[in-house]
Amino acid sequence: IKNVDNLSFEGKKALVRVDFNVPLDKDLNVTDDTRIQAALPTINKILNDGGSVILMSHLGRPKSGPEDKFSLKHIVVELEKALDRKVKFAPDCIGREAEMLSEGLKSGEVLLLENLRFHKEEEKGDVDFAKKLSKLGDIYVNDAFGTAHRAHASTAVIAEFFKEKVCGYLMLSELKNADKVLDNVERPYIAIMGGAKIADKIMIIEQLLNKVDTLIIGGGMSYTFAKAQGGTIGDSLLEADKLDFVLELMETAKAKGVNLILPVDTVISKAFANDAEQALANKGEIPDGWMGLDIGPKTAELFAAEIMKSKTILWNGPMGVFEMSSFDKGTKAVAEAVVAATKAGAFSLIGGGDSAAAVNKFGFGEDVSFVSTGGGALLEHMEGKVLPGVAALEP
Ligand code: 3PG
Repeated sequence: IKNVDNLSFEGKKALVRVDFNVPLDKDLNVTDDTRIQAALPTINKILNDGGSVILMSHLGRPKSGPEDKFSLKHIVVELEKALDRKVKFAPDCIGREAEMLSEGLKSGEVLLLENLRFHKEEEKGDVDFAKKLSKLGDIYVNDAFGTAHRAHASTAVIAEFFKEKVCGYLMLSELKNADKVLDNVERPYIAIMGGAKIADKIMIIEQLLNKVDTLIIGGGMSYTFAKAQGGTIGDSLLEADKLDFVLELMETAKAKGVNLILPVDTVISKAFANDAEQALANKGEIPDGWMGLDIGPKTAELFAAEIMKSKTILWNGPMGVFEMSSFDKGTKAVAEAVVAATKAGAFSLIGGGDSAAAVNKFGFGEDVSFVSTGGGALLEHMEGKVLPGVAALEP
């Protein structure tokens, strides 16, 4: 597929799909601008060529029609700061006003469209809606890696209305880095999976068992493993309908020669609160009335030692409730080990929303090989699925 470097944007209007699905606090301020920063190289390339930019994105999951808390107007200030120039805003992504604002754009100017998902046609991949959007630009650029797994109007369907359709620098770099853990991987290859739910990660875990040498399972999902092995887990997270699945998974890992490593101890708490009473428990020995909220120190050491032996590292999902300072030590220890292994020459790819946020929270964003902006998109790509947003750019 072609990328922005293959074209000159001089005198052109580029309609750019970005993923500005960023977190906002209760006052509707942007709390993490990673995805905005990540889109800048593509936007600046177009502007420096002498083109103008029309940005389109979704924000959140509005249910039916416009909702103020999902308005992209809340990110204009942040975007203006990042770009160091004024940004115009179209209060609807299609229609006369958006068309007039786009027609009036001069070279070097930027227009941001209102949330695409205020129209239900976006998620349906509606062809007429895609056609209306396509009127706003001369060239289609897709730089929304985080949304590339969605076959939506603005990510996939729209491409057919353009002679020139290219991917942006972010998309290009995400795909290039993901390839490093997909093809010709340097071994030992370790995957570290965490986060709350096994249900979201079944496919990726099954795929990884065909690829990795070592698979570490931590975080909320590990308690279902402990339970399946006959332990007691108190009030910890449990996916009762996945008990058989995890037993099978352990068998599969053994049959395929994958070293599957589970936590050996855990930080337990009386409540899901930073200041609740805490203690340590061995794996599968959590008393009633307590819940596991982080991996314990022995586990952190065990995981770190395995990570340090590796040449390729894929990390998805935190080890505990890292947002609370009482339960962030396991995730931090893993992050530190990933950084140390990277310094020693390993390739490390961190992805999937929470683990990227954790790495950034601890200030390690620059010390790992690549932090993906993709959550579900990265996982689907790693599962070997074709991403509709990428496929649509094929000639
Ligand atoms: C994400 O944050 O993973 C992407 O922006 C996609 O959002 P979605 O899961 O609501 O489609």
